[in-house]
Amino acid sequence: MTSAAGIIQSVIDASATPESLHWFARGLADGTVSDAQAGAFAMAVKLRGLPPEARTALTLGMRDSGDVLRWDLPGPVVDKHSTGGVGDCISLVLAPALAACGVFVPMVSGRGLGHTGGTLDKLEAIPGYTVEQSEAQLRVVTREVGCAIVGATARIAPADRRLYAIRDVTASVESIDLITASILSKKLAAGLDALVLDVKVGSGAFLPGADQARALARSLVDTANDAGCRTSALITDMNAPLGGVAGNALEVAEIMRLLTLATRNDDLWALTVALGGEALALAGVAADSQDGATRIEGALRSGAAAERFGRMVAALGGPVDFLDAWQSHLPAAPVQRDVFAQTPGPVAAIDTRAVGLAVVALGGGRRRDGDMIDPSVGFTGLATIGDVVGAERPLARVHATDDTSAVAAAAALRAAYQIGERAMRGALVHERIA
Ligand code: URA
Repeated sequence: MTSAAGIIQSVIDASATPESLHWFARGLADGTVSDAQAGAFAMAVKLRGLPPEARTALTLGMRDSGDVLRWDLPGPVVDKHSTGGVGDCISLVLAPALAACGVFVPMVSGRGLGHTGGTLDKLEAIPGYTVEQSEAQLRVVTREVGCAIVGATARIAPADRRLYAIRDVTASVESIDLITASILSKKLAAGLDALVLDVKVGSGAFLPGADQARALARSLVDTANDAGCRTSALITDMNAPLGGVAGNALEVAEIMRLLTLATRNDDLWALTVALGGEALALAGVAADSQDGATRIEGALRSGAAAERFGRMVAALGGPVDFLDAWQSHLPAAPVQRDVFAQTPGPVAAIDTRAVGLAVVALGGGRRRDGDMIDPSVGFTGLATIGDVVGAERPLARVHATDDTSAVAAAAALRAAYQIGERAMRGALVHERIA
């Protein structure tokens, strides 16, 4: 007879079967498995690891613990997932750019976690934009606009919802097998044909080391492909905040400048094009990733991606004139001032995690579940590695609700920057895993 204790023992003995892992995932969702058993299971997986077939079985079991969407659309269903970072607002540009290239993007996204920003928190900086949508509305907007960025309903991968909360309090978050099953159970429940992954590496990444990033990318790519979803990953740089801006409304403003071709941040542009090229090739609508990249560039340059973004915002409750009048809709912080380095010189290194935590301390992220977010705060013009800072060039401009938090954020930012040796910024895309 199947029992939770027997399955935990089989994980320790490396003999867990796909059927037993499906049973465990179902038990997480329906309450047959207790919190203590879930915690013991998570720790057994963290310490012993799962063989590839078992990892895929756990992922599929967790995916099938709730609703799994099926689509009947005149094009492939595609998505992108990032392991999270600071200033990473790529999803906001990429989803409409992909839609403009003829694929459909039901992007079920998350909120900020720790020092990392969350796509849903960024979109909620837009007045009226509603991330909690019914499955029916997700279907309508995906079909009519081509993309819809929304939050997961309680019916998507409920086994993950429960296991993640237990991992969080049992020191078992940092297991590549469990991270893989957690991320992919939610993504695969959206019924995708293809998925491109942006696995971050560096001081602001969830797993900072290059070996860890590579192992996570390999695990995600292999498991998703085994599960029948064409998937590849780019390992990309998070040794500096992406795009030089961190903060919810501030990042939305940055992507509006990019989409409307007012100013173009080279890193945001290049990463959107690289990930989009991969996604279009995986989806089979481009001959290869280079052809895909050219198509994404075309969608950005022609304004087609901007037009899709404006329609998505309006369809999900935001202002109908957001594309033309975004400046008047986004909140602005009352205190804005430049932050200068204590000593001038080139930026040698950045503790990007500390920059993300400084945004959280300003009120731009959550310290605990349920905290309110102030969308207006953060940093703009963040210097990157190799920039020479001094009296003419600040480290960044801080946007804060009051003087006290601005002063604290300035001190935190100075501490996050190492000035001294001349250094070169590393490549934006470190590696491709397919
Ligand atoms: N994000 C997730 O969704 N799950 C994890 O386990 C880690 C990051």
